[in-house]
Amino acid sequence: MTVRRAARRFAWLLTPLCAGCEGIQSALQPAGPSAREIAALWWSMAAGSAVILMLVVALLFYAVFSRPQRRHGRRLTPTRLIVYGGIVLPVIVLSILVPFNIWVAAGISAPRAADTLTVRVHGRQWWWQIEYDDGTPNGRFDTANEIYLPVGARVELLLTTADVIHSLWIPRLAGKIDMIPGRTNRLMIEADEPGIFRGQCAEFCGLSHAKMALHVVAVEADEFQAWLERQRADALPPATDPARDGAALFDTNGCGLCHTVRGHGAWGVVGPDLTHVGGRLTIGAGLLTTTPDHLAAWIAHNEVLKPGNLMPAYVDLDRETRIALGAYLEGLR
Ligand code: CUA
Repeated sequence: MTVRRAARRFAWLLTPLCAGCEGIQSALQPAGPSAREIAALWWSMAAGSAVILMLVVALLFYAVFSRPQRRHGRRLTPTRLIVYGGIVLPVIVLSILVPFNIWVAAGISAPRAADTLTVRVHGRQWWWQIEYDDGTPNGRFDTANEIYLPVGARVELLLTTADVIHSLWIPRLAGKIDMIPGRTNRLMIEADEPGIFRGQCAEFCGLSHAKMALHVVAVEADEFQAWLERQRADALPPATDPARDGAALFDTNGCGLCHTVRGHGAWGVVGPDLTHVGGRLTIGAGLLTTTPDHLAAWIAHNEVLKPGNLMPAYVDLDRETRIALGAYLEGLR
């Protein structure tokens, strides 16, 4: 078999590897300055590793296939191999990589500029509490599992946790950083273009760790201002009959003990703020798209969908009640 035919025959083996390089959550498709620097670091390390791997394989072949008389010549003595391969080469490689790494890391967490937007991200088992606060009397609000930001703005994320160690990773925008109890960590993110960028908790944090995702939505500045205005406002009254029924059922079933719906008299702080839940991309931290059916399914079967989460599963609620609650919540935009 020629080399070309062999390459063609086994090319499919590389497909799964290449498939990981694209998509809304790939560090190799950077969409912001921090992510670009990290990708450059990654490519330079991958290239360096490839060169070193080829060198080692060449030496291996040389050791196996060369004639013993040649191998025992004076050029490639064991002492030289240890000195050049074990000391000189690592010193050269690390002397380049370590400063490059420090330079990239310093850029990623550079001090905030005067006009930087600050967003607090609070890790919880297993969702993200997102807090915007511009310091004005009505400028503070909570949302969940979704960070909106204007394109081209450097956004400072202040990262804390309510329970265990989580780790925020939005591969297309920035590096990964832990959320540690008792500490506030900082991460700068910036998006070059409008789009939706998926992020993920990157530190095992309990049973449903794998179901702890979030989305960063980058929009133009005017659209961002409009979004801020909508989020600051209280929830509108329910507009349809099923939604009005759902609002009453939300009240009588005690949902407001755990959830906030500003303007509707619900002030619970255990679960996500639901004031504008209907306008979010997903529920359950990236688990399901926000539709009335999914909301109804979540209310009854959240324990199956996200094992171990704090919300009780309301399996005993009848179908009409769940549908009305779904209609009410989906209308909160
Ligand atoms: Cu939070 Cu893993």
